[in-house]
Amino acid sequence: MPGRPAPSRRTVLRGAALTPVAGLGLGACSPGGETVDSEPTAPVDLGAESEIAPGGAKLYRDHNVVVSRDAEGGLKAYSTICTHALCPINKLEGTKLICPCHGSEFDATNGEVLQQPATAPLKELPVQAKGGRIVAGPAPTA
Ligand code: FES
Repeated sequence: MPGRPAPSRRTVLRGAALTPVAGLGLGACSPGGETVDSEPTAPVDLGAESEIAPGGAKLYRDHNVVVSRDAEGGLKAYSTICTHALCPINKLEGTKLICPCHGSEFDATNGEVLQQPATAPLKELPVQAKGGRIVAGPAPTA
């Protein structure tokens, strides 16, 4: 195109710097490969039970699970895959989960929607304390 300047040195450098990031993104989403953005399909050991105080909650981003503990010590676990458009939720403030994609908010103690656009509650997952560890996720199907 006439008059269009050649790419500046800065543009070229920036393009080169972005390449590894783009490559990583493609790898994580390869078709047919295991997706990282899903809830557990089998029980997973999340960590020490003592990490969650009564009335508190903890977000396990690597597993897309949030676990909360009620005042009596009971545990609840929910998938943190947003029910609006399936983004993994990456933020927990107190017991409020906030989706980065469109701002939906959920209550980590019961999975209920606090703020739309999501309208469906988070999916509850089985959870138990085993030997001082928190284990959450559905039992394997026989
Ligand atoms: Fe979470 Fe849209 S995917 S608000």
